[in-house]
Amino acid sequence: MNILIVGGGGREHAIMWKLQQSERAQRIFVAPGNAGTARNVNPKDIVAFSQEHAIDLVVIGPEAPLVGGVVDDLMRAGIQAFGPTAAAAQLEGSKAFAKKFMLEHGIPTAEYGEFDDVKQAFAFIDSTSYDVVVKADGLAAGKGVIVCDSKEQAKSAVKAILQDKQFGVAGAKVVIEERLIGKEASILAFCDGQHVVMMPPSRDHKRVYDHDEGPNTGGMGAFAPVADISEDDLNHYKQAIIEPVIQAMAARGTPYKGVLYAGLMLTPQGAKVLEFNCRFGDPETQVILPLLDSDLLEIMLACVAGTLDQVHVQWKKAACVTVVMASGGYPGNYSKGVPILGLDTVEGAMVFHAGTSRSESGDIVTSGGRVLAVSAIGDTLQQALNNAYTNVEKIHFDGAHYRHDIGK
Ligand code: AMP
Ligand code: GLY
Repeated sequence: MNILIVGGGGREHAIMWKLQQSERAQRIFVAPGNAGTARNVNPKDIVAFSQEHAIDLVVIGPEAPLVGGVVDDLMRAGIQAFGPTAAAAQLEGSKAFAKKFMLEHGIPTAEYGEFDDVKQAFAFIDSTSYDVVVKADGLAAGKGVIVCDSKEQAKSAVKAILQDKQFGVAGAKVVIEERLIGKEASILAFCDGQHVVMMPPSRDHKRVYDHDEGPNTGGMGAFAPVADISEDDLNHYKQAIIEPVIQAMAARGTPYKGVLYAGLMLTPQGAKVLEFNCRFGDPETQVILPLLDSDLLEIMLACVAGTLDQVHVQWKKAACVTVVMASGGYPGNYSKGVPILGLDTVEGAMVFHAGTSRSESGDIVTSGGRVLAVSAIGDTLQQALNNAYTNVEKIHFDGAHYRHDIGK
């Protein structure tokens, strides 16, 4: 089978790495890919490229093309695509849609209001007895969520989104919700429109510096499984969150296929959904797929075909961590084109590339904020951490920084 993976981050490199292990995988293209991925292409039109290159399966990494309807386009052309249709991807594409959907289907989530009018939003903020989080309705590359410490801050967030259009059309509406306190967890599941297979729970580290200090990033590392989530807990999340979503999506005629990712806050009142993502997480994928013992291609094809109940999905009884190495200055300004050294000395770990490219002379250089995700497995979390950090220390580029407390 020929496969096209859409995306260019560590997540897509990890998907490529895992799909390569499938006996049925032949040529795997990645669009646009990075220096870690092979057969990189840059097609203007995914459907036309897939037809020209006899692609049997297209796997979409990021949310934007999913929300934009690339799966619908591929389906119309008769090409198998792993991921939800635009209608199903609304769970991530519109926070207002997701909140209303959760309310209607009894899925635990924070209290909220939805507004397109500044005055009404202000009145809601004044009426609440809790701190709030202000969210732009649409996709804002992870930047549209403002966790507020005061009503003043919440109001300026509302103004920035609704009035100043800081996130453009993504900010035509805002969701204002109760600020929840607790630990977070990423719960991902394979879905075929009807059936669900849970992946091991994982947790990512969003702040740039150790001890959760500094600004938010796209994710500085992750680990799986999560010790404070038991098998029973995971089963409960399956029954109380993932399965109700899949059933309700099927009932409204927009069956959900692909990966459903629920970002949870584990509150004293139980787990509540902060957000849905319609795709694999980054960097969660870099710790989940190394734990998968089964054939990812078979699973993805079963998701497309609606036969996930016939696939046996097996996970390693091990721990996996990933440590992200970032460019100096990230998540602020950083330079690009910095040579990366020591990649060939890595042993007992996988280096998933994110912001990397090849210089004219063929050397691997930095090209983004998050540069590499160094993933390692161990019998215990501590062993996995030892394996990952031993290898992180062998890799060098000027300005490189990473967190030292992943998994803690
Ligand atoms: P989202 O894109 O909705 O997941 O939001 C990104 C991040 O903002 C989450 O991972 C949380 O850290 C934080 N966040 C979102 N919603 C809430 C909430 N209701 N309470 C506290 N933190 C939140
Ligand atoms: N790790 C968070 C995300 O993928 O959205």
